[in-house]
Amino acid sequence: MALIHQFEAIRPRELKPALLELDGISRASVEAHHRLYVGYVNKRNEILERLAGADAGAANQVYSDLRALKVDLTFAIGGIKNHELYFEHLGGTGGEPDGLVAQLLARDFGSAAAWREDLRATGMAARGWAWTAYDWDERRLFNYLGDAQNTFPVWNATPLVALDVYEHAYFLDYQTDRASYIDAFFANLDWSVVNDWAQRYRIPTT
Ligand SMILES: [Fe+2]
Repeated sequence: MALIHQFEAIRPRELKPALLELDGISRASVEAHHRLYVGYVNKRNEILERLAGADAGAANQVYSDLRALKVDLTFAIGGIKNHELYFEHLGGTGGEPDGLVAQLLARDFGSAAAWREDLRATGMAARGWAWTAYDWDERRLFNYLGDAQNTFPVWNATPLVALDVYEHAYFLDYQTDRASYIDAFFANLDWSVVNDWAQRYRIPTT
């Protein structure tokens, strides 16, 4: 018994030119990082194509083709979503947020500085990612931690900042000095992109 899956292959996004000229994160590091992202896109397409031919009648929680494909599909899709956020909101000049995001950070963390320190600590404590996300049920921002591409923190939350702390993000430039890489991440954030997302998602200020 085969499953019926309809899907369209997707293509990786190109790197914005500004990503090749970051302050403190080298072009070589960004280009290598982007190649990993392209790999997630290719594997997402490959897995969905193979799922179309997987035997649903043989599905088994110990081992089955269906299980293997579905488990790793989440890793591939997580890798795509996380990196598209990451690359999209870098290329700016960091500094202090303004507009809607400044209001939201002040409301939920007390200040942008307090948010930054909390995200920095979350990133130091993570093995994969730290995200600032708006939880639509709790109606507030929170800095969540995920140890892998597919360890999403909670359902019904919308990420606005995605800090990649996998070693591939910084080892070329900083070896094991993750803290300095996190400083560079903040210094290259593009707040206008984050504000666009917050407005598009209509994150409420009340
Ligand atoms: Fe990454």
